[in-house]
Amino acid sequence: MSGLGRHTALAPASGSRDDPWRASSPPIYQTATFEQESAAGFGEFDYARSGNPTRETLERHCARLEGAHSAFAFASGVAAITAVARLVRTGERIVAHTGLYGGTQRLLSRLAEERGVEVVWTDLVDGDPARALRGARLVLVESLTNPLWRAPDLCALVAACEMSGAWLAVDATATSPWLQKPIELGADLVIHSATKLLSGHADLTAGIVAARDATLAERLAFIQNSEGAVLGPFDSWLLLRGMRTLGVRLDRQQQTASALAQWLAARADIVRVHHPSLPTHADFARHAAQARGPGVVVSFETGDEARSLALVERLERFAIAVSFGSVDSTASVPCRMSHASVPASLRHVAMPPRDLVRLSIGLEDFADLSEDLAAALGCCDAKQDGVSRICAHGRPQ
Ligand SMILES: Cc1ncc(COP(=O)(O)O)c(C=O)c1O
Repeated sequence: MSGLGRHTALAPASGSRDDPWRASSPPIYQTATFEQESAAGFGEFDYARSGNPTRETLERHCARLEGAHSAFAFASGVAAITAVARLVRTGERIVAHTGLYGGTQRLLSRLAEERGVEVVWTDLVDGDPARALRGARLVLVESLTNPLWRAPDLCALVAACEMSGAWLAVDATATSPWLQKPIELGADLVIHSATKLLSGHADLTAGIVAARDATLAERLAFIQNSEGAVLGPFDSWLLLRGMRTLGVRLDRQQQTASALAQWLAARADIVRVHHPSLPTHADFARHAAQARGPGVVVSFETGDEARSLALVERLERFAIAVSFGSVDSTASVPCRMSHASVPASLRHVAMPPRDLVRLSIGLEDFADLSEDLAAALGCCDAKQDGVSRICAHGRPQ
C-alpha cells in the first residue's frame, strides 16, 4: 500500500486474477464447491467454507489496509471476537476492559468462562496496564469504547503486553482503518464489527480479524475453517463495495458529528456530551495523538431517563435503531438497547448512564439534524412521561 494516497488505497484489486472478462467489479462466486481437475489433489479452492475467491479478495484488501499479515472475514463482529477468544486455551487468561460492547461481555463472561478460560475484567483506560496484565495470554480493548468513546493508551498497552508476553487485540469498530491502524501502533490483532463503519450502509452483518504475524494468521485460518462462521460471497462483495467509500463517508460524517457535539455542548438543557472532538472529553488529547479523527457517534446525557426516551421517540431524522456507522442517522438509548446484554455481574461497572442518548451521524445535512434535535429537545422536558416503544419492545442485541 506504500506510496498510494489514502482514498486510492481503499480500492480493492478489481476482478479475479483469472477472470477472462476482466470485470471491473469483483465477481461474486456464489458457489459452495469448486470442481477439481482430479480426485488426487485439490486446486486452490475446493469448498467455500475453506476459501472463496470473493471472500479472499475482501480478506486480502482488509489485510493490506490494516498493514497486517492476513485478515479473515466472519459472519458477524461477534463471530470475529469468538475466533480471537478461541486463540486462548483452557487454563489461560484473558484480560478485558470493563467497558467493552455488551455482546462481547456476554460472550467472554459466559462462553469463554464455560470452557475454562479465566476472564479478568479491569479498567484498561484509566488503570495501570502493567499491573493489570500479569499472567494474561490475550488483552482485549476497544479503540474507542462504546458509548462513552473512551480511548485506551494503545502505546502503553503495547509496551505492557510485550513485557507480559500477551497478545493485544484491539476492537477497532468505532475507528476503522480510516482513522486508526492498531497493528501499525504495535497491536497483534485488530477486530471489526464490519456491520458498522466498514460496510457503512446497515445492509449486512460481518466481522473482520486482522493478524500481525504468520503464526497468529495460521491459527486463525484453522479456527475460521474449523468453526465455519465465514462471511458468504454476496456479503463479502457488499462489504467490498461499502469499503470503497469509507474515506469520503467518514470524513463527512465525523465532520457533522463534531459540529453536532459542539452544538449540543453549547445547550443549557444538555448535561454532558461525549465525543472525542470536544476538548472537554477525558481522552481528547490521547485519542488525537493515536487516531485521525473522533468518529461518527455522539452521546449525551439529558439528566433524566424518561426525557431521553421521549426525546429519541420524537426525532424524525434519526431512526431508533441499534448499531452505528451507517450513512443514515440513528438514535438509541444504550442502557435499554445495545447494552441490555451486559451480564448482571458486570452491570455495576459496565453500564452507561441511564439517561444517555447515542446518535450515529449519517450523511444528512447538519442543519436538518440540528433542527430535528432542537425540535425534539424543545418538546421534551423532564416531566414527560417515559412510557416508550423501546421499553415495550427492547431486547438484548
Ligand atoms: C465495538 C463492537 N464490537 C463488536 C460488535 C459486534 O458486532 P456484530 O453485531 O457485527 O456481531 C459490536 C456491535 O455493536 C460493537 O459495537
